[in-house]
Amino acid sequence: MDWNIVSLSAIGRSSSSIRREPFNSGEPELDKYLKQYALKNEIINKTFVALPSDNPKVIAGYYTCCMSQINPTGLSQEEQKRFPRYPIPVMLIGKLAIDKSFQKMGLGKKLLKHAFESAITASDKIGVYAIRVDALHEKAKEYYKKYGFFELQDAPLTLILPLSTIKKAIQIKEKS
Ligand SMILES: CC(C)(COP(=O)(O)OP(=O)(O)OC[C@H]1O[C@@H](n2cnc3c(N)ncnc32)[C@H](O)[C@@H]1OP(=O)(O)O)[C@@H](O)C(=O)NCCC(=O)NCCS
Repeated sequence: MDWNIVSLSAIGRSSSSIRREPFNSGEPELDKYLKQYALKNEIINKTFVALPSDNPKVIAGYYTCCMSQINPTGLSQEEQKRFPRYPIPVMLIGKLAIDKSFQKMGLGKKLLKHAFESAITASDKIGVYAIRVDALHEKAKEYYKKYGFFELQDAPLTLILPLSTIKKAIQIKEKS
């Protein structure tokens, strides 16, 4: 299946129409955010939605991103040596959810890839060390670990993936 990934503000739907659309990821908190707060929060937290190309009226999944930071104390002793002692800038994927009828089709992976590309583009203009995610629970954590995210030492549900790791993976893929 093919999806188009676009910014929520660009699809020209009102908050009330989004509220009426079915979206059930299995995590009510994430469903409520999309329906009630995503458009309202656009100025501080961008939301990108995936629309099936054969049915663009349906939101199959979404993620949010904004700037954030982590404390260097969350990194290993070795890593900490590379940074000053003040907070390190990162891009936060605050929420990621796929509607149940579209789960396990690779859409979560596709949305993560889209976010990785945005972070790499942004990092040409502004300092971004890593992508950060705050997992809802252990199951979500396992999902992110599959992509190389690792836990911070001072916040067990917060994981990061340095952009340098993503760039290396892209270079390896391009060479092969
Ligand atoms: C977690 C979630 C985003 C995954 O999205 P998805 O589109 O179903 O996942 P994908 O199809 O992209 O899965 C990619 C891979 O991850 C695996 N995977 C899916 N969920 C997983 C989990 N919870 N733990 C470990 N691996 C998982 C898939 O089996 C697949 O593996 P493969 O590439 O080896 O075949 C989705 O299930 C969801 O929205 N869940 C409810 C909300 C949630 O927990 N969000 C997490 C952020 S807090």
